[in-house]
Amino acid sequence: MNFILLGAPGAGKGTQAKLLSSNLDIPHISTGDMLREEVKKLTALGEKVRVYMAKGELVPDELVLEAIKKRLQEDDCENGFVLDGFPRTLVQAKDLDRLLEGINKRINLVIKLSVSPEVVLSRLSARQICEFCGADYNLETRPPEKEGKCDLCGGELVQRMDDRNEVILNRLEVYEKQTQPLEVYYREQNRLIEIDGGRDKDLVLKEILQIIRKDDRA
Ligand code: AP5
Ligand code: MG
Repeated sequence: MNFILLGAPGAGKGTQAKLLSSNLDIPHISTGDMLREEVKKLTALGEKVRVYMAKGELVPDELVLEAIKKRLQEDDCENGFVLDGFPRTLVQAKDLDRLLEGINKRINLVIKLSVSPEVVLSRLSARQICEFCGADYNLETRPPEKEGKCDLCGGELVQRMDDRNEVILNRLEVYEKQTQPLEVYYREQNRLIEIDGGRDKDLVLKEILQIIRKDDRA
């Protein structure tokens, strides 16, 4: 089962992808996480992408495509994968289809998580991440045991560089202009299922798992 989680920033793609990855025993592939790792390690790629990410703009297609192509051909993707935050442009979507076709694979389903801009703003402005291990906290729904410290490694909790209000608003605009056209692309191919991502995370997960079990495209 190869699938994509699509949705605006804060829709819950990362949260659901992690849960699905452990439920279905398939890798969670997040281009956002991959790029943040490059920024953290101060690599040449990290240097190139940091400015785009800090402003909430998309990183150029060719930089993302290069990284994802390698990842999808690794052995752990053999029995399926869940993509989070990729593809984000029509160029990326078409390139992904071509790449998968070349290795006799395809995307079975695209699950779009719908949420209102109000929910996005409230979720993202309450998010904190561990500077050291990247663990995700949320002051509203999943606060750390000790304020400002990671439960897992004791690292300092900080705001993600693109979770400032003005950057969140830009990310929402970028989603609408550059990523929303993918909904039409996948709907026309009868691969898109839209669900309400504004509910409790366990309810969202339950619905996705039901879809995967019952849908004959999965
Ligand atoms: P990326 O890391 O992909 O970020 P994003 O899509 O902007 O969104 P988020 O990660 O903020 O949201 P999410 O939907 O994953 O929600 P999450 O589960 O974390 O991309 C970052 C940047 O990298 C881009 O702006 C771009 O610059 C670059 N980039 C990445 N991929 C690229 C690509 N393919 N092409 C070009 N550039 C690319 O949840 C958010 C918060 O809400 C968390 O605190 C969580 O705990 C909470 N939450 C989640 N679900 C629920 C729920 N059901 N109820 C209550 N709270 C919830
Ligand atoms: Mg994410």
